[in-house]
Amino acid sequence: MKKKNIILIGFMGVGKGTVARALVEKSGMFAIDTDDLIESMENRKIKKIFEEEGEPYFRALEKKTALWLENSVKSTIISTGGGFYKQENINKIGKVVYLKSSFQGILDRIHNAPNAENKLRKRPLLQNMEEAVKLYNSRVSDYEKVADIVVDVENKELKKIVKEILGQI
Ligand code: S3P
Repeated sequence: MKKKNIILIGFMGVGKGTVARALVEKSGMFAIDTDDLIESMENRKIKKIFEEEGEPYFRALEKKTALWLENSVKSTIISTGGGFYKQENINKIGKVVYLKSSFQGILDRIHNAPNAENKLRKRPLLQNMEEAVKLYNSRVSDYEKVADIVVDVENKELKKIVKEILGQI
């Protein structure tokens, strides 16, 4: 069975959720978010899961989520946490779309958001900027490797991003 899901991957703060919501509007498809699924499963926020259980526990939840998505979800837009691209079965879940931006572009986007403080506070791996840059640099080439489609989102209107994604799917 062809799954026809669209999976959005990319670094924290690049706008996966925003693009997912815009895709919903344009395509009429449903959308889900892997971090939201994990928070519901655990009945606590990602930040709390990291604090109380540590990162490996969170990654195991991502794996469980990835298996469920592969087996049970179709025709859906799936936005993911920034580390979800590492799931071995990601390409079996659907078409993988990488939302690409420079690190500075991501920081600018976060800082220009009305809820910038909250966007930073809720992300455990964005607390230390030096570490965050290192993480970004360690991931960029892998995001591209996993992706079926790469969309440069930096300084691009949401409308145009959505058009590009739907045009390439
Ligand atoms: C993570 C990104 C976060 C969240 C968790 C870990 C990562 O999601 O899954 O804090 O490893 O990059 P966002 O990309 O939505 O911030």
